[in-house]
Amino acid sequence: MEEQRFFFRDTWAEVDLDRIQNNLTEISAHLSKDVEIIAVVKANAYGHGDFQVAEVALKAGASMLAVAFMDEALALREKGITAPILVLGASRPGDVNIAAEAGIILTVFQKEWLKHAQKILKKDAALFLHLKIDTGMGRLGIRTEGELKAMERLFEEDPRLQLHGIYTHFATADELDDTYFNRQLSLFKDMLSIMNHQPPVVHTSNSAAALMHPAARFNAVRIGIVMYGLAPSVKIAPELPVVLQEAFTLHSRIVHVKKLEKGDKVSYGATYEAPEKIWVGTLPIGYADGWIRRLQGQEVLVDGKRSPIIGRICMDQCMVRLPYEVPVGTVATLIGSQEHESISINEIACKLETINYEVPCIITARVPRLYMQKGKLVSLSNPLLDEKSKY
Ligand SMILES: Cc1ncc(COP(=O)(O)O)c(C=O)c1O
Repeated sequence: MEEQRFFFRDTWAEVDLDRIQNNLTEISAHLSKDVEIIAVVKANAYGHGDFQVAEVALKAGASMLAVAFMDEALALREKGITAPILVLGASRPGDVNIAAEAGIILTVFQKEWLKHAQKILKKDAALFLHLKIDTGMGRLGIRTEGELKAMERLFEEDPRLQLHGIYTHFATADELDDTYFNRQLSLFKDMLSIMNHQPPVVHTSNSAAALMHPAARFNAVRIGIVMYGLAPSVKIAPELPVVLQEAFTLHSRIVHVKKLEKGDKVSYGATYEAPEKIWVGTLPIGYADGWIRRLQGQEVLVDGKRSPIIGRICMDQCMVRLPYEVPVGTVATLIGSQEHESISINEIACKLETINYEVPCIITARVPRLYMQKGKLVSLSNPLLDEKSKY
């Protein structure tokens, strides 16, 4: 595949689909056979690419996908994904016919929502729903046994409303202290125990819980961050029972190289001053790509050497101090490896004082994603240019 014809700026992310597949294979080997994997591909698969990750996850054994919003589920349907898709976030009751027609499973947690849905749902429709219990996350979900009983009655009296699943979400599964986790788990079990009929799919665990707390697996787990090769938190990283490989890397090519004299300045505000004669390279990536201004000072790899970003990061470009003169077109790796050096997503998260989840998510759609399998480019997504464009 000739990538040059599909994007025209030398900045791109590479997503190694083999790594995602291997991570999932490792994870499922660690789970028992009767536990289904729901692959969480919301937010464009944490910035990696929804369709490509969904395909690989399903191939590696996931039986269902999960997204945050109906738009994300419909986008996957439009791209040809036919597997069950669960919407984890809130959907509007007015949209239930669209969900039912597209075979999209929605999350429900309000009696009034169900009643509204009942009123407008077509006569012969079947709407699959998962009931969300708030056991302590404080985000979405019913909190009382009274609510659960009332919702159950609504399901029982209307065959169009199919209670396909029930779930909760843990607030502290990625911490070493499991006191709060156990409280949530026991509240969930209490709720399950008062139901007349348990729905077919019962799930509570995100990546951290699925790997660290076997007692919370029930018959399905929602796997997100570890599928992408990242640990759910720095604290539990050393305890994880699987070896993970990061799938996302970020690269740019130096578009201009110059020598600065001592005292010469770089970028807006002229805040960087060359301390001596130095070589400087310009990279076509900036804060509009998600490489935000807080990353000033962060190193990138050039010719296998760590090279710091100097001066303020601009909207579309930034400058790096080079180890020595290198040719225009030299690849700079912002996330990933060159020779013996590597810059992990965790290093960037640490610099930004945030979690690794946020890093690939904030690399904007302007950065094309190149999909790699067996070291070769197999497909590419560049939302700026239609796939069918020919240049
Ligand atoms: C409800 C729910 N389940 C599962 C996940 C996946 O979590 P993780 O990426 O930690 O596996 C998320 C992610 O935020 C979520 O919101």
